[in-house]
Amino acid sequence: MKNSNGVELPAYAKINLYLDVTAREENGYHKIESVMQRVSLCDRVAVSVSREPGRSIFVRCNLPYVPRDARNIAYRAAELFMDAAGVCGSVRITLGKRIPVAGGMAGGSTDAAAVLRALNRLFGYPFGRARLTELACALGSDVPFCLRGGTAVCTGFGEIMSGVRSRTRLCLLIVTGGENVSTPWAFEMLDRYYQNFDARASGPARLERLTESLCAGDAARAAESMYNVFEPAIFPHRPRAARAKELLLENGALGALMSGSGPTVFGVFPDTGTRFRAGAALLGEGFTVREAYTL
Ligand code: C5P
Repeated sequence: MKNSNGVELPAYAKINLYLDVTAREENGYHKIESVMQRVSLCDRVAVSVSREPGRSIFVRCNLPYVPRDARNIAYRAAELFMDAAGVCGSVRITLGKRIPVAGGMAGGSTDAAAVLRALNRLFGYPFGRARLTELACALGSDVPFCLRGGTAVCTGFGEIMSGVRSRTRLCLLIVTGGENVSTPWAFEMLDRYYQNFDARASGPARLERLTESLCAGDAARAAESMYNVFEPAIFPHRPRAARAKELLLENGALGALMSGSGPTVFGVFPDTGTRFRAGAALLGEGFTVREAYTL
């Protein structure tokens, strides 16, 4: 839907097919090495602008517990955009959320990226891609990837992105079990679990095998190569997420992994029939399941 002063965009979720932490910096932030992947599950983000003196931002959302002020990263995206562009007006943002909230799928970050894209369009493209990416970085670690999409190896804090020419469309089941995780808490658990980040189970060979498999269209080998450093640190505190992974693997998944800092878990399936049967098994244990594919 598009009119003279409004635009509605899909805001796609991401999953991490691979996520490792390579170092903890002095400021408490962690250097990561990750393969991020855009998936078909999305929120809808509608943004409209009326040009008037002064500045106001209004957020509405289909979920009553989602904050509508500066605690919401979509609100902060609008604020940052207007500051950087030096523009005034009244901005209305409507979030139709379907991505699990606080789930490790960048639901907030992707809404923020959509707000940046929408406002750039509505204000006549004051920013090119590079400047928009800078604004995304200032908002949060996952926002630059959400702006970019596709498949990418992300390093640094997630802002250094190198595209992967994936030829694999993965058939996914995304599972939540009523738990959630705050990102700072997850990193705290990670620091406690790994005394230092040199003794981890992964390594560059695994990352390479994953990207090669994606480029070769080999879903089974890609699924085998998936890795998430957070799993052993988070699963003891989020038993439903651990159980979801177990059930996915018991029901025919080629691989199953927690996404980001969790607790959402996804399974990669060989075909839609197997996925359907696995979905039924998970529903039987009270999980929420969403079918999706990689974009
Ligand atoms: O960047 P984002 O807003 O998602 O980060 C939320 C929190 O997660 C940070 O305040 C920090 O505690 C932690 N974090 C981190 N290392 C990263 C990303 C996030 O320690 N690379």
